[in-house]
Amino acid sequence: MTPIIEARGLIKRFGRVEALNGLDLVAEPGQVVALLGPNGAGKTTFVRSLATLVSPDAGTLRVAGIDAVREPDRIRRVIGLAGQYAAVEGAMTGRENLEMVARLFGLDRRRAKESAASVLERLALTDVGDRLVRTYSGGTRRRLDLGASLVGAPRLLLLDEPTTGLDPRSRVELWDAIRTLVSGGTDVLLTTQYLDEADRLADRIVIIDHGRVIANGTPGELKSQVGRDLVEIHVRDQAAIDPVRRSLDLLGHGTVHTDPAALLVTVDVDNGPERLMQSVQALVDLGVDVDDIALRRPTLDEVFLNLTGAAAEPVIERSAR
Ligand SMILES: Nc1ncnc2c1ncn2[C@@H]1O[C@H](COP(=O)(O)OP(=O)(O)OP(=O)(O)O)[C@@H](O)[C@H]1O
Ligand SMILES: [Mg+2]
Repeated sequence: MTPIIEARGLIKRFGRVEALNGLDLVAEPGQVVALLGPNGAGKTTFVRSLATLVSPDAGTLRVAGIDAVREPDRIRRVIGLAGQYAAVEGAMTGRENLEMVARLFGLDRRRAKESAASVLERLALTDVGDRLVRTYSGGTRRRLDLGASLVGAPRLLLLDEPTTGLDPRSRVELWDAIRTLVSGGTDVLLTTQYLDEADRLADRIVIIDHGRVIANGTPGELKSQVGRDLVEIHVRDQAAIDPVRRSLDLLGHGTVHTDPAALLVTVDVDNGPERLMQSVQALVDLGVDVDDIALRRPTLDEVFLNLTGAAAEPVIERSAR
């Protein structure tokens, strides 16, 4: 299968800044890929390279097998781009905006109308389609912008921070719209600052920093890289801390930590669910009162901090593995 995106050793300099510094990324079709990284990591530069708005200084870049540098015109026919700032016209209705874009894509009047109607339908915008865009909420406007990027029936949709600044409900609506697109056969690459967004929406997460990929995997794979699960036990009474610690030590699952002030005992474990059940059994046997016992899995925040945070050396170690 031809990858939908294939970037090898991509380099882009702006003066002395290396926005892309040997970026390698291969994405298979049929997935939502989330590009995650701190400010200035090179996310937008990569998206703009894919959209042929930026030309790389070195390396190769292909979309659906087409060379982005040598054949930008062909690339533009397979991609759609929507950015953080909705590029739709407020003084026109949603439908008119979409029809205009369709005409720009060379469709005749009748086809443009059909295309606009179908996009409104797909993004659940039919009800507001005949209202002026300037009366839309931010979320609806963003959805229309997403719609405008779909008019040309792209194979790959590029979304640069599609939900930045939206309220939680509009974000969820936009996620639904994106999922619908993917199930309809459009591949999506999106950038995001929101870890929960990447976690909920993406099949594959690519973390970049300083213009190169430092981690790449499913949300689950990335979380399991960062470390082990934690069994957390809140006891009711400080006197229970020591016996609980001893009994968990005996199980030998992992290192037991105690925080008497917080009435908390934690164990890091490998096989979370199974260890949790064994710990519960041990506590029942011990006969102590607990307020709460829970299995806490690593979050994407921890992955992200681990990789892009202060700990620079482990980053190199991890990405080399
Ligand atoms: N047109 C440009 N001219 C000069 N420098 C640029 C240009 N575009 C990007 N840069 C620089 O390249 C680096 C990467 O920028 P880029 O916008 O790709 O990062 P980003 O990951 O999208 O960041 P953010 O999360 O803030 O959107 C930054 O240091 C930025 O200042
Ligand atoms: Mg950006």
